Amino acid sequence: MLRVAVIGCGGIGNTHARQYAADKLCRLVAVCDILKERADATAARFGVKAYYDVADLLAGEELDAVSVASAGVENGGDHYTPAVQCLEAGKHVLVEKPMSNDLEKAKAMVNLARARGLQLGVDLNHRYVAPAAKARAWIGEGRIGEPLLCNMELWIGNPNESSPWFHMRALHSHSVDVMRYFCGDVRRVSAFLGHSSKRTIWSNCVVNMEFENGCLGCLFGSYEAAPRHGIERCEVLGTRGRFVLDNVFEDLQLFPHDSDETLRHRWTMMGSGAHSFEDTFKNRLHAWLDELQRGETVSGSGEEALRAMAVVEAAILSFRERRWVEISELLG
Ligand SMILES: NC(=O)c1ccc[n+]([C@@H]2O[C@H](COP(=O)([O-])OP(=O)(O)OC[C@H]3O[C@@H](n4cnc5c(N)ncnc54)[C@H](O)[C@@H]3O)[C@@H](O)[C@H]2O)c1
Repeated sequence: MLRVAVIGCGGIGNTHARQYAADKLCRLVAVCDILKERADATAARFGVKAYYDVADLLAGEELDAVSVASAGVENGGDHYTPAVQCLEAGKHVLVEKPMSNDLEKAKAMVNLARARGLQLGVDLNHRYVAPAAKARAWIGEGRIGEPLLCNMELWIGNPNESSPWFHMRALHSHSVDVMRYFCGDVRRVSAFLGHSSKRTIWSNCVVNMEFENGCLGCLFGSYEAAPRHGIERCEVLGTRGRFVLDNVFEDLQLFPHDSDETLRHRWTMMGSGAHSFEDTFKNRLHAWLDELQRGETVSGSGEEALRAMAVVEAAILSFRERRWVEISELLG
């Protein structure tokens, strides 16, 4: 059984702790936060030991893997230091998204994990749902045909105005990851960013993408929407059909070009799969543990997250410099 700890005891660190505590593949042995009261409260909640410093945690516990659920600037600025400390101590690391707000630091994390032969995963939880796996299987079975267009919407309400790029960096690792999951690597990007008269940060975006396979993508993103009507919709049109995956996991529909009949999967009530957004964390953390236990290269890896992050950075650069940006400019 894998021995795991959680670093960062905010809302999301507590979600990781809750899921680890319930998962039969691991034992949650400790939590850590530089804020003593947060570490103590989470430790008491799960009946484990509290630490207030990552070095003390690593010295005090025999661990196989660690979740890093810190936050920081653009919700990813604090991840680098504890993630590197854990990798240098020989632990597999699952880091929250965005894996960093700095592309060079994200590359350094990926390179360090590779050099040490360790697994680095990122909590790209939106795609860890049965409907996304089903849609990807349809692509694999040729039911969509050649992917031609990918239309992605991810919009929620978030009033945070702490950085001009907060919306882009804090949110869109998720949406780009889902697009990449279905359509593969992105070759180049062009973007427009905007905001309402009430906002100062770039809280809305339209990002155009050309994938390596020739598929064209468009991401509509916002931090100015009302989540009560759904947060995410992904549609892929191919030469043989089209699917729509609505609201992360709620509804999946296939529209074959050669038939009047559609195929619909719904997961909302009694079926298998996700029943609430919390289940995306449950599924993602379970997959992480399962792959670690099997000694497999993990899915949702640091490398994949780095590629998604590069698309977000390319969108920012495109907007700033009013040109399209090749991903190879950023990743080499
Ligand atoms: N995957 C998702 O769906 C999803 C959803 C929301 C948020 N998130 C991500 O989860 C992360 C955490 O979000 P949150 O709302 O819980 O943040 P938070 O700010 O409430 O909590 C982060 C905690 O980490 C602690 N911390 C920072 N540096 C530390 C260090 N070096 N050692 C120990 N503790 C440290 C802070 O003291 C704080 O208590 C963010 O990266 C955010 O983007 C992911």
